[in-house]
Amino acid sequence: MKQVQFECRRASKRAMPTGQGKDAQPEGRPELGELDGIPLAKATCQEWSRIQSFQAKPDDLLICTYPKAGTTWIQEIVDMIQQEGDLEKCQRAPVHHRHPFIEWARPPQPSGVDQANAMPSPRTLKTHLPVQLLPRSFWEQNCKFLYVARNAKDCMVSYFHFQRMSKVVPAPGTWQEYFETFMAGKVGWGPWYDHVKGWWKAKDTHRVLYLFYEDIKKDPKREIQKVMQFIGKQLDEATVDKIVRHTSFEVMKDNPMANRAGVPISVMDLSISPFMRKGTVGDWKNHFTVAQNERFNEDYQRKMADTTLTFTMEL
Ligand code: A3P
Repeated sequence: MKQVQFECRRASKRAMPTGQGKDAQPEGRPELGELDGIPLAKATCQEWSRIQSFQAKPDDLLICTYPKAGTTWIQEIVDMIQQEGDLEKCQRAPVHHRHPFIEWARPPQPSGVDQANAMPSPRTLKTHLPVQLLPRSFWEQNCKFLYVARNAKDCMVSYFHFQRMSKVVPAPGTWQEYFETFMAGKVGWGPWYDHVKGWWKAKDTHRVLYLFYEDIKKDPKREIQKVMQFIGKQLDEATVDKIVRHTSFEVMKDNPMANRAGVPISVMDLSISPFMRKGTVGDWKNHFTVAQNERFNEDYQRKMADTTLTFTMEL
């Protein structure tokens, strides 16, 4: 994989021409920095040399997603598989603390790199990075990558609501503004299109299990069994059924170790929009106008013309 040069610069009005950077952020909301053309949290940019030189190990499993693609869901599934369906073990910490988030930085708290370095092997780690920004050692160590992709329209809607309620990311502006911002890729971790295509390509040369949110929704048991096979874990039928139940949206929504219940209101205001919001396929139809849908589809066709990757937009 190509390794990019370290570059971190302030998001300027010019670098962020739409939505998030155009107007001053509401009080307390950060602007994004940028790294090789990809918008990222400024603290991540500042930590970049340590992130880039992170030392992966051959038995690391890396959960990779574009934001809002079902990261928390697949984390809970993986943990339930690894803990062989032991619910108590899966309650040991909030799910977002169980797997170090390698590019996460929020001083003075320990960074994702610090947390990963302190974790005993075999490690399960998490990233939202696009392939071109992933620390080189993951490729060199031939790690396993578990990628979950979600259709762009539902990702956009979910990300919009997340940015409304999360205080540590830029405010999204109006839905119409956000619609343009997302299509332009001016959101944290960059364009959805390049992200899903990059990881899709990576599966031809690396150990990538590429799953789809919509497939997990449609047939969770089948997809959970794929994950088990990929990570080399055999479980009996009753345990698999237990995992299916425990990782359903309805159960996870009420699970304080999954629904971000303990996150301070200064970080996330769940009264604005819950973290476990809807958990459906096709909520975009409640947000996109007919005109937006046409404009989106036309732009999408152009951006996705060079891939065999296809998505389910409704079930
Ligand atoms: P919505 O906002 O559409 O409801 P991430 O963990 O990557 O931030 O993704 C969050 C999205 O995944 C949210 O989508 C959330 O509701 C959904 N999600 C989380 N757990 C889920 C589950 N068990 N089943 C279906 N969707 C789930």
